[in-house]
Formats: sequence, structure tokens, C-alpha cells
Amino acid sequence: MVSRLLQAAAEAMADAYAPYSRFRVGAALLASNQKIYTGCNVENVSYGLTICAERVAAVKAVADGQREFRAVAIVSDGTTPPFPCGACRQFLAEFALPGMIVAVAARKDLADPRLLTLRELLPHAFRLDKKGTTSRRASR
Ligand code: THU
Repeated sequence: MVSRLLQAAAEAMADAYAPYSRFRVGAALLASNQKIYTGCNVENVSYGLTICAERVAAVKAVADGQREFRAVAIVSDGTTPPFPCGACRQFLAEFALPGMIVAVAARKDLADPRLLTLRELLPHAFRLDKKGTTSRRASR
């Protein structure tokens, strides 16, 4: 399955819109419905508006009703594996099943990916302290 995801991510990279960084990225995410959702990076002339490939895939999955992610593969046409940025790690953590796998590879090394869990990449994801927030609201 990981190799299928890596292949799908490499194909999704073809649609990357990266005229500013010239760093093309593709992602493929496996949701608990067993469907694969793909994404590519989409840059903007206002650089900060750029959206990473894995976040595009995540948003597509959620918009299709999927809120449980099993695994994601991320592929770039660079020379090093494209480890997800901090923002994407937190974004994926919102919908990650326990043990969610993150596979990363440069396209030239597609057969030799790095495999980690999201938990390894983001051991202390931010979570709301629901007790604190609700009680403060209730006391207003
Ligand atoms: N990028 C991704 O799409 N995913 C990553 O995991 C790392 C970075 C994109 C954002 C930007 O378009 C380009 O790579 C260079 O930062």
C-alpha cells in the first residue's frame, strides 16, 4: 500500500503549481474508507498564501467526508525527501488515526522511502484543553 501511495503522490506532482520555488511536491493520502486522495503544492505570488501538497490532499479528503487518515505519502522532485513542514504536521494530526504513517521520498528514490509515524514527526501536537476553554466561556 505504501508503494501505491508513493506512486500516486509522484503522479499528483505533475499538477504542482510551483513557479516561485520550482520545488514540485505531490501527496497521496489513504483515508479509512480505503480511498486515496491526492494533492500537489499550489503557490501564490503572495508567497505566504502557498498551500503544501499534503494539506491539499487532506482538505480534499475532509471535503469528501473523511476524517480518519491512515497514511500519507509525500514525493518531491528535489534531491532530499520532503518531510512535511510543521504546519502540515499539525494539520494532519487533526485527522490522524493512531499510528498514521508518513512516507517521504524524492522521486528519484521512490523505491527507497523514509517511513515514520506522524507521532514521531510531531510528538506533542497541540490539543485544546476543553475543560479550560468551556469553563472560561461559561463564566463569562
Ligand atoms: N511543500 C510542500 O508542498 N510540502 C512539503 O512537505 C514541504 C514544502 C511546498 C511548499 C512550497 O510550494 C514548496 O514546497 C517550497 O517550500
